[in-house]
Amino acid sequence: MKKVSLTIDGKKVTANAGEKILWVALDNDIFIPNLCAIKDKPEPNAACRLCFVEIEGEDEPVTACTREVKDGMVVNTRGEKALNLVRAGFELIMASHPVDCAHCAANRACELQDIARHLGCKLKTKRYRQLLRDLPVDDSNPLFTLDPNKCVLCGRCVWVCHQRKETALLGFAHRGFQRVITTFAGESIGDGCLDCGGCVKVCPTGALAFKDGNK
Ligand code: FES
Repeated sequence: MKKVSLTIDGKKVTANAGEKILWVALDNDIFIPNLCAIKDKPEPNAACRLCFVEIEGEDEPVTACTREVKDGMVVNTRGEKALNLVRAGFELIMASHPVDCAHCAANRACELQDIARHLGCKLKTKRYRQLLRDLPVDDSNPLFTLDPNKCVLCGRCVWVCHQRKETALLGFAHRGFQRVITTFAGESIGDGCLDCGGCVKVCPTGALAFKDGNK
């Protein structure tokens, strides 16, 4: 495998040619906010728009989960243009996410908390009007619950579930503000699920949560 050398936030790192900036940064302890990326997934969704970085010589920020590293590349994860986009994207997500951490199973393991800390943002946004959903929590599975109100539609759970091929259960339904993660024909999550828990483990929030409180 061909190796390349690059600089991220002033740190010199080496990576395999073809790797995406996001994973190279994270592997080298440089945090870049991300919600929709999964390392094993060959084609990134690039849906959350939180992983913007700046590249020397390029005018516009790029998403780190889609851009491959190049030899001699200079990446800045802290550039003003990139951070403005990331903050706006994060606050938009938080405008429709209930903030009740003290009563959430994901408290202290929630990736939204990590991202807010990294960006120096509050979880409750003032920039955008709060638009919360009031959808029923699916409690039908013996192992875990699905609370669509806490879902950020990152799609990680859908991808993991679909690795089970013909037994896959989760998918997206509807568009815009109505968009939700659901099962085929809206059946409850207790029906047909193999209870592997893979979806819960990749959920960045408390939308999917084990009933025993483990994450
Ligand atoms: S992690 Fe890159 S767009 Fe979501």
